[in-house]
Amino acid sequence: MDNKLREALLATAVEASQKAYAPYSQFMVGAAVLGKNGVIYPGANVENASYGLTNCAERSAVFSAVSAGENHFEAVAIASSGGVAPCGACRQVLHEFAPRINVLLIDINSKEQVTEISLEDLLPDPFPSKNGA
Ligand code: THU
Repeated sequence: MDNKLREALLATAVEASQKAYAPYSQFMVGAAVLGKNGVIYPGANVENASYGLTNCAERSAVFSAVSAGENHFEAVAIASSGGVAPCGACRQVLHEFAPRINVLLIDINSKEQVTEISLEDLLPDPFPSKNGA
């Protein structure tokens, strides 16, 4: 991925975090997945009064991309306070479509702070998926 695309992916994740619906946790998360088609799909966490129905930002982005017809991804960026790594459920969902994807983590309070880690390192022993991505 060239630098311009990487910056665009990070900026989209940061922008998406500002759209999070997180009145219960106040923890705003944004994600952006880059499709093989070159399109960037954003997602934010969407909480619910029943808590358990909450959708994480990463899954919002993946589901949005898949709903638009793209299910092969080049990279994902995730923006949050502290630049935290995705939860286990989101790691497995990312694995479904992009088992060898690189994950960029950006701290929205200190945007020069970007960590890059492979999904294989984050989820070393996944439940196997059917998608040959
Ligand atoms: N959250 C995400 O959006 N992504 C993750 O990988 C972990 C957690 C959200 C869910 C909830 O709205 C808030 O962060 C606090 O857990």
